[in-house]
Amino acid sequence: MKTYTGQSLREMYLNFFKERGHKVIPSASLIPENDPTVLFTTAGMHPLVPYLLGEKHPAGTRLTDVQKCVRTGDIDDVGDERHCTFFEMLGNWSLGDYFKEEMIPWSYEFLTGEDYLGIPSDKIAVTVFGGDETLPCDNEAAELWEKAGIKKENIYFMPRENNWWGPAGLTGPCGTDTEMFVIRKPKCSPTCNPDCNCGAFLEIWNDVFMRFNKQADGTYTELSQKNVDTGMGLERALCVLNGKSSVYETDIFEGAIEKISQLTGKTYGESEEVTKSFRVLLDHTRTATFMLGDEKGIVPSNTDQGYILRRIIRRAVRYGRKIDLPEGSLAKISEAFIEYYKNVYPELNINREKIADELIKEETKFNKTLQQGLKEFEKCINGIERKNAFMSQKDPNYVPEKVINGKQAFHLYDTYGFPVEITDEMAKERGYGVDLDGYKAAFEEHQSKSKAGSEQKFACGLADHKEATTALHTATHLLHAALKKVCSPDVNQKGSNITEERLRFDFNLPQPMTPEQIKAVEDLVNEVIAKDIPVVMKELTLEEAKAEGFTGLFESKYGEVVKTYTIGDFSKEICGGPHVESTGKLGKFKIQKEQSCGSGIRRIKAVLQ
Ligand code: ALA
Repeated sequence: MKTYTGQSLREMYLNFFKERGHKVIPSASLIPENDPTVLFTTAGMHPLVPYLLGEKHPAGTRLTDVQKCVRTGDIDDVGDERHCTFFEMLGNWSLGDYFKEEMIPWSYEFLTGEDYLGIPSDKIAVTVFGGDETLPCDNEAAELWEKAGIKKENIYFMPRENNWWGPAGLTGPCGTDTEMFVIRKPKCSPTCNPDCNCGAFLEIWNDVFMRFNKQADGTYTELSQKNVDTGMGLERALCVLNGKSSVYETDIFEGAIEKISQLTGKTYGESEEVTKSFRVLLDHTRTATFMLGDEKGIVPSNTDQGYILRRIIRRAVRYGRKIDLPEGSLAKISEAFIEYYKNVYPELNINREKIADELIKEETKFNKTLQQGLKEFEKCINGIERKNAFMSQKDPNYVPEKVINGKQAFHLYDTYGFPVEITDEMAKERGYGVDLDGYKAAFEEHQSKSKAGSEQKFACGLADHKEATTALHTATHLLHAALKKVCSPDVNQKGSNITEERLRFDFNLPQPMTPEQIKAVEDLVNEVIAKDIPVVMKELTLEEAKAEGFTGLFESKYGEVVKTYTIGDFSKEICGGPHVESTGKLGKFKIQKEQSCGSGIRRIKAVLQ
């Protein structure tokens, strides 16, 4: 059996598609640019949504990459053998170029070819869309698989639940798919199929034939082009190909496992408990490292992405305690990941200090309240138990209530920094539950007291998510240019995030902006808006763009040909878009907040009214 490392599989995959006319593009940020419906990039196709919808991609119609992804839906399962919150996805795309006839034979070739994965073809099973009331079954895919060499008995027709993929967020491109599995052992029963979790079938790859666009109202429209979107989760593929039982037994985690052993004196695998703690620490520290080191770097906070990051770090700290991990260790474990990934994701190396600083800061902060919070948690449980004992004495039929109420859970969050999900998990370990609705109510009551009026409106009254975020995108360019003019030509973007309500922009500036500067920036942006200047897109090579004075924010991230956006003589930026056609569409620009966000970094939140 061949043995793969993360790097050998990355290279083999990208080279295979490069040889078939694909351009290798860099991984995009973990924070989605154009999709306010989700917090993180969840699949390789996610950053490509505009192009799957028909926009022209500067690198052409055949693309391949390794994309950083985060999915936190199954975070409570992390600690088992195969769940990770962060993963890399290998993928290739046809943007209205080839379709099933090319993709299925290629998939077969990559899976079975001697120069590639070399899996015997009778050890591969595939599933295809089995049809429903809206779409016929995908006989075409089944025939292509059979023609390629898959045994008929290993081709399974499955319902929509299994063989429909997408969209990545709430809306966007999606379609039927065909999934590929390695057959590990005999079926557990005659009816066993790839959906069975007996371990006979292990998924390795997924080809989506993307022909539809899901709308906000839940309906589907046909796309103007037929796309292919494929995804192979690197960690799981390595685990399956190397015949391992867990994703943590790959070279990716080796350095970090050793580090945890050094720090705790414990060995991965010595007991179930210890192994689980190792895995949670490995997964969560890696995810936190990528979030903090992302080119759009985020930091722990109480909302959105920052909250997820906080929750992940704090859960890691809690599991660290179970194996006597000394305080301040997360940054050290993180170092092992930075070393491993630094050539694939240079942003981790660039942000090395920031990653360590933030991990140390968050760990210290949580440790201050953790001890007290754990005591408080015990007090809650004791209180409930005493009450149950008392009630049972009075009434032999009394059913003990094993629930931490919403107010108690909120108190643990508000005073001791326990994200409710952590309280819930701790409760479960003791056979208790948390009244999550009650928690939500307590939380909202607190919010509405501290912040009146939470009515959601789209920026400047635009009709939908997409229009609102597009306008804010253009406003971000105007803000960036205005800051350079008003504050200093040295101002540069350090991070950006857009929801449908507001833009957020981080930039370097050694001191806070004065009220006069804030006003001047607002006025300047509004002047440009009033002039209704066209936003002009032009494709240039990176070198041409630099020579023409375009600002490129994360240059190593761009492919050879880049899109440039010019707004009169006011702003010239390299950017993936999309943007409004002219500035007049933006409404009134208003800065709501200017604050510090790390040393020498300021953060602006602004809206269009
Ligand atoms: N977008 C598909 C997936 O994530 C390929 O599985």
